[in-house]
Amino acid sequence: AAILVLHGPNLNLLGTREPEVYGRATLAEIDAALVRRAEAAGHRLQSFQSNAEHALIERVHAARGDGTAFILLNPGGYTHTSVALRDALLAVAIPFVEVHLSNVHAREPFRRHSYFSDVAVGVIAGFGADSYRLALEAALARLGAAGR
Ligand code: DQA
Repeated sequence: AAILVLHGPNLNLLGTREPEVYGRATLAEIDAALVRRAEAAGHRLQSFQSNAEHALIERVHAARGDGTAFILLNPGGYTHTSVALRDALLAVAIPFVEVHLSNVHAREPFRRHSYFSDVAVGVIAGFGADSYRLALEAALARLGAAGR
């Protein structure tokens, strides 16, 4: 099956952005590891990063027509602000896991609220780059052999 990884704003800076919070792995390294794992399990994985809300929304819309069966989503700061991106995910009705590198519950109070958690299959937060790996394992378990 086709898996889509969506990275929101500022995640293009991973590796140099607040490394004590977000770790030293770059987005390219994270994406490459996800592609390898997905392909080893017989699936395809594409990723997309944007700093623009509209571009993320349009990529979600495109996912409806391109066969995407599952989405891994790190909405970045839009986690805490974007009704519109939430609505896009509900509109296409593709299951997704919400991913955060940092433990959003151990930080500023405004990071505790997410516009996505209640409509996600599940949420993984706090494990750095491993959060994506764990989210992919959850997706693979859901897709199973039938999704190959
Ligand atoms: C983040 C957490 C958000 O609060 C923050 O705005 C980000 C990254 C994370 O992966 O830990 O940009 O989604």
